[in-house]
Amino acid sequence: MRSIKDIGRIDDIHKQRNFLQLEGTLGIGHTRWATHGGVTAKNAHPHTDCSMKIFVIHNGVIENFDSLKSELAKKGHKFTSETDTELVAHLIEEEWKAGKDFGKAFALAIGKLSGSWSLLAMAEGEKAIHLSRNGPPLVIGIGKGEMFCASDVPALLEYTKKAVYIEDGDRAELTRGGWKVFGKGGKNAKRKVHVITWSASMAEKDGYPHFMLKEIFESQTKIREALSADVKGAVSLLRGEKRATVIACGTSYYAGLVFKALLQGKLRMNCDVIYGSEFPYLRTGKERAVVAISQSGETADTLSAVRLAKKSGAKIVAITNAVGSSLYREADKKVIIGAGPEIAVVATKSYTCTLAVLAKIALLIAGEGKKMTELALLSDEIEKLLSRASEIEKIASELSKYRDFFFIGRSLSYPSALEGALKLKEITYLHAEAYPAGELKHGPLSLLEKGVAVISLAPSGETFAKTLSNMQECRARNATLVVLSDKEEAISKATYSFRMPKMDPLAIPILYAIPLQLLAYYMAVGMKKDPDKPRNLAKSVTVE
Ligand code: F6R
Repeated sequence: MRSIKDIGRIDDIHKQRNFLQLEGTLGIGHTRWATHGGVTAKNAHPHTDCSMKIFVIHNGVIENFDSLKSELAKKGHKFTSETDTELVAHLIEEEWKAGKDFGKAFALAIGKLSGSWSLLAMAEGEKAIHLSRNGPPLVIGIGKGEMFCASDVPALLEYTKKAVYIEDGDRAELTRGGWKVFGKGGKNAKRKVHVITWSASMAEKDGYPHFMLKEIFESQTKIREALSADVKGAVSLLRGEKRATVIACGTSYYAGLVFKALLQGKLRMNCDVIYGSEFPYLRTGKERAVVAISQSGETADTLSAVRLAKKSGAKIVAITNAVGSSLYREADKKVIIGAGPEIAVVATKSYTCTLAVLAKIALLIAGEGKKMTELALLSDEIEKLLSRASEIEKIASELSKYRDFFFIGRSLSYPSALEGALKLKEITYLHAEAYPAGELKHGPLSLLEKGVAVISLAPSGETFAKTLSNMQECRARNATLVVLSDKEEAISKATYSFRMPKMDPLAIPILYAIPLQLLAYYMAVGMKKDPDKPRNLAKSVTVE
């Protein structure tokens, strides 16, 4: 058996080491998201045992790593990495060398672990790849005379449309011709074969230089699918409730803040928005209607919060892009946002589609279904904004010398400010933060001076006049003012500006997302950063 592993981008490693020199019909590979041990070639996956006959890859965290490792060390095992993963190879080795067949040795080793994992193992002379899931996702792809396994569906699209989602607690075996799943207690388990509706071409760049740009442009068409999403179940579950609790992380959390502003502002319906990772400490245990937002449907923090809420009796509405994902399966009501595969690590079209679905739900709960006609104009408006992408590109190049950015907005534009700042920092690694425009004077104003850029979101409406005053405060401190607005009065105050269309407040967070995403994109490209693969970040965050 042979392995090639190193640090750096896969393409670069391939150029230097040529993965194709590896011959054979069975293989595993993994890009590591470092938990235990630094980013070194030794810590890269796969990991192997003392005999170098067993190879494993792993996503997750083995929590009883220290005690298991010292037990194995006492038995004479030699470790070559600092990872928690390596010990699994040695655990299997212990059982295998005691005479168990490899599948049994794998199962016994897994039985000793606590923590979270999706794990694959193979061994010299064995014809199967063995897998186990406890937390992070695993999907089997069924090909013709060949089988695949990945952590997410887009990776399979080039090879097959048939997918089997491995459930938590499952173990499975893949051979060239088939698959077997063993559920809890090791018994044969039936799992449904899903036919994926996404196509391989949907996961290609289609002539765009980056997936991120392609995906920003796809908002124009995908928003229509989002607006036609079936939200009946969600609406019936939420209607009549006095309070909703949103659980989400990152960009999905910001979508939750928009939903809160819509529910509380429109319906006077209480809505708490809680980060998945904070839910264990903030929950009351009385949550009845939970809206869990996760484009991947696999975010560990969101999932564990949802499970906690379910235990105390909450009903769950899932808003997700991933049919069959863990969140999808656990929810009582499901809404699919219809964004199609999103390959760039950062959320773009999945955010706008989530917002569209949430706006629809809010309108229907409010009994204002007629207002959907306003939202139906979104696709055309997005198209017009996208046709002016070069204006944003120009602003991005003007801003290239800046290192500090503040994003400000009020009400529905505050989550947009948060999202604009997040997008910028994720892919440019520049300092960017967001505030409700009225909050600047309560502290952050002390940071404003020449050389700091303030991006102000100033749509017309009830927030406009006050936002305008906040902009003046920034100018008075010599900050560079970048304004997104439909009002001349705001545009005329700006150092750089981008004129927005005037639309119903419901549509504003969706529309303003487009130039903010483009701004982050062009700034990253200008700085020669890869916007599709920001450092340290993963598309599905499957560890807590
Ligand atoms: C930001 C981004 C992340 C995700 C977050 C939650 O561009 O992509 O902040 O939004 O990790 O992911 P999901 O929505 O898959 O739960």
